[in-house]
Amino acid sequence: MRHRISQTLAVLAALIMGASLAAQEDDMFSFIPLGGRSLLEGVQAEGLPKDFGEAIRSKSADAEYWRQALAQASETSPAIAELDTWQTDTLAYYLAARAPLPADEDLPRDGRDMSLELCQSCHIITVVITQERTREAWLGTMNSPSHIEIETTPEERQLLADYLVLNAGIPIDEVPPALRAGGASY
Ligand code: HEC
Repeated sequence: MRHRISQTLAVLAALIMGASLAAQEDDMFSFIPLGGRSLLEGVQAEGLPKDFGEAIRSKSADAEYWRQALAQASETSPAIAELDTWQTDTLAYYLAARAPLPADEDLPRDGRDMSLELCQSCHIITVVITQERTREAWLGTMNSPSHIEIETTPEERQLLADYLVLNAGIPIDEVPPALRAGGASY
C-alpha cells in the first residue's frame, strides 16, 4: 500500500514537473511575436463583428483585402482596434494564406507555430528569428538543399516567409540567454 502511494506520488511529481517544464519552455519563447492563429483566437474570444466573422469563413482574398477588412472591423471591435500595425499585418497575411477558415475545427498553424515546430531540430530558433530578410530571401532558404525536405505546403512556406518578414529580425539582446549560444553563428 505504502509502496503504491509512493508510486502514485512519484507519478504525480513527474506530471507536475512535466507541466512546469512545459510552462518554462513557453516562457522562454514568449519573446517571439504572436502569429495569426493566436491573434485571431484572441480577438475571436471577444466576439467578431458579424461581417468579418462571415468573411473569414467564406472568403479567399489577398492580404490587402484582409487589411481593409480588419480596419473596418476595428471600428466595432475593440480587440481588433488594439492590434498594432505589425499584428494587423501578421493577421492579414495569415488570413490571405488560410481563409476561408473551417468553422468547427482548430485554426490551422501560423508562422510562429511553424517556426517552433519545424525550425529547431537542426539549429536553434535564434538562427531564424534574429534574421532580417526579404520574402524572397526566406523562400530561397526554404528551397535550399538543407531545407527543401521540411514538411510544409507551398502556401505554408509563403505564410512562414510573410510571418518572418514582419516578425523576425529580433535583436540578439532580446533573445533569452539560454537561446543565444551559437545562435548567430551562420
Ligand atoms: C533538416 C535540418 C534543418 C531544419 C529542420 C531547418 N534548418 Fe535552417 N539550416 C540548416 C543548415 C544545415 C543550415 C546551415 C547551412 C545552410 O544554410 O544550408 C541552416 C541555416 C539556416 C539559416 C541561415 C542561413 C541561410 O542563409 O539560409 C536560416 C535563416 C535558416 N536555416 C532558417 C530555417 C527555418 C526558417 C527553418 C524552419 C522552417 C529551418 N531553418 C529548419 C538545416 C535545417
